[in-house]
Amino acid sequence: MHRAVVLGTGSCLPRRVLTNDDLEQMVDTSDEWITSRTGIHTRRIAGDGEQNYQLASQAAEKALVSAKVSAEEIDLVAVATLTPHMMMPSCACFVQTEIGAKNAFAFDLNAACSGFLYGLDMAEKYIATKPDMKILLIGSETLSARINWQDRNTCILFGDGAGACVLTGAMETTRTTRTTEAKQRGIVASNLYSDGSLWKLLYMDSPASRNPDLLLEERNGCFMQMTGRDVFKHAVRAMEKAALDLLDLQQISIQDVSLIIPHQANIRILNKLTERLGADQEKVFINVDKYGNTSAASIPIALDEANRQNRLKQGDLVLLCSFGGGFTWGSMLIRW
Ligand code: UT7
Repeated sequence: MHRAVVLGTGSCLPRRVLTNDDLEQMVDTSDEWITSRTGIHTRRIAGDGEQNYQLASQAAEKALVSAKVSAEEIDLVAVATLTPHMMMPSCACFVQTEIGAKNAFAFDLNAACSGFLYGLDMAEKYIATKPDMKILLIGSETLSARINWQDRNTCILFGDGAGACVLTGAMETTRTTRTTEAKQRGIVASNLYSDGSLWKLLYMDSPASRNPDLLLEERNGCFMQMTGRDVFKHAVRAMEKAALDLLDLQQISIQDVSLIIPHQANIRILNKLTERLGADQEKVFINVDKYGNTSAASIPIALDEANRQNRLKQGDLVLLCSFGGGFTWGSMLIRW
């Protein structure tokens, strides 16, 4: 059996740091409120030369170096994003040109904050049938362009950035027993879910939309809209259930997991999730304090930081969990 293995990771954050003190000058909020309710201290905001595809391309180039793979060897460039540079062409096509991945086909996928997890699942399915394929998967967002900077409910939460990884098929073991299979590196299993019926709790309308599903007063341009408290509850419950079901199905205990990388939305969500999973706090990777919620970029940025901090050792079990607009959510186990 071939498993999809992560060969290398990379990330790129914009230069500009926006602090809670800066936000105090912009809306009626305080560092104390933001820190205690979200755990966020700073977030990065894209500027000149830092459009979505440019952040994505820089993250991709670092992932290629880390994977020791050239751009020409890449067969597929996929970008998970809800803030593409343009509606058409895809962000992935811009990245393909920017990095010179001239032998690849390229497309975007949108599953909001779960986009990177959905992308990993898709990459695994490609690799199951074409193990030699080299896939460059990126999660990249410039959410700052789609935030109403007068809305204190949302503007304090989000940030910009990009993360990437290169995947390919693991070497097939010649005689696969249950034990060797269990120890085999790569994506072990995943579960993905969606519930479109709750979309109004978290949405972003299209620019210049004539969307008949929205009342006139709900068409505020194209900014992020969120009913935070409800999203919070759904996020905790959904990620908890997805992760526990996956562990149960794989007959893996949470104690066997070396590192948990959840979508970085809010420190209170992460703490509740940690508690409900019965996980040790030091096994949960956290960088929401530095970057806020970067949507589809949050898991790959965290994965890259964990990788570069040597928190991922070969053979370690890593658990990813995500939740986002749609609603979309899921979890995944990777043997690093
Ligand atoms: O990736 C998935 C996407 N999103 C999320 O995961 C977000 C999930 N939700 C959350 O993180 C939290 O719900 C928030 C951080 C957004 C809000 O925290 P909360 O504890 O749920 O606060 P709340 O919305 O219930 O608001 C409590 C109070 C309200 O005032 P009143 O009605 O009690 O007078 C808000 O108006 O806090 C007020 N408030 C603020 N005050 C100062 C809301 N935003 C702010 C602010 N500064 N920035």
